[in-house]
Amino acid sequence: MRLVKTKQELMKFRKEMENTRKLIGFVPTMGALHQGHLSLVEEACEQTDSIFVSIFVNPTQFNDPADLKIYPRNLDKDLELLSAYSKIDIVFIPGVKEIYPFPDQRIFDFGYLDKIMEGAYRPGHFNGVAQIVSIFFDLVRPDKVFFGQKDFQQVVIIRDLIRQLKYNIELVSCPIIREPDGLAMSSRNQQLNPEERKHAALIYRVLFMAKTKANQMDVNKLKEWITFVLKSDPLIDVEYVEIVDSLNLKPVNDWKYPGQKVCCIAVRIGKVRLIDNLLFP
Ligand code: PAJ
Repeated sequence: MRLVKTKQELMKFRKEMENTRKLIGFVPTMGALHQGHLSLVEEACEQTDSIFVSIFVNPTQFNDPADLKIYPRNLDKDLELLSAYSKIDIVFIPGVKEIYPFPDQRIFDFGYLDKIMEGAYRPGHFNGVAQIVSIFFDLVRPDKVFFGQKDFQQVVIIRDLIRQLKYNIELVSCPIIREPDGLAMSSRNQQLNPEERKHAALIYRVLFMAKTKANQMDVNKLKEWITFVLKSDPLIDVEYVEIVDSLNLKPVNDWKYPGQKVCCIAVRIGKVRLIDNLLFP
């Protein structure tokens, strides 16, 4: 496992790999790694020969500077966790100036896909994600990339980015890894105090219960019920509850709708913003 800080060094290593015929897997992260991230690495170990991991807290995807400032960072522990995987060849840990020597002015157009949910509540977020992910794709030139369904809308956006920029890359989307009480693992969970952490388990509980109620209750009534249950918790502020088509993210109003449906939730608990989702039958 080699630590690389510059684009030049990364490109040099990548060029040396050209004739090896190895399948290259790429796992982009913002660090503060947990089992959710590691599950992507493990899937990459299954499916590819040489793995590149990036750890970079990308400033352009933070619409709130205060959020960027408090985002957890723990490089030493991250590297220790990654060192357990012998297929990881490169851990790319560039500085901000290395990636953005001058501001990235590119504006991406994802149409409807970034107008709702995270796109609506975090303006500019997905444009920043698209900037950094396309920079990494150009440098790493992976065969397969691994993303978590925890960030469901991000997967849909990256799929569209790959289509728009005509990358020859396979996107592998991996299931959500949860804590024993159901809370989706997230680097942000460590920002919750013990009391908030207990309350955060309600997010998955209500998603799980809602899944069993799907088909028995009108779609919009179910959304109202989920919102009501979450709002009954004194520590939870609800940002959105949506039930959408898993491919085009259009709201679903009728259970008879034939496509795969996904229920997506965003809440705030204290200063911490949490998202989760569950596929519905
Ligand atoms: P980050 O939040 O660090 O997440 C990196 C990857 O880990 C993403 O694909 C995310 O969906 C996945 N992940 C996080 N928690 C997970 C969980 N509990 N189960 C499964 N997968 C999980 O997402 C980003 O970073 C950034 O936007 C990035 C793509 C790196 C661009 O900066």
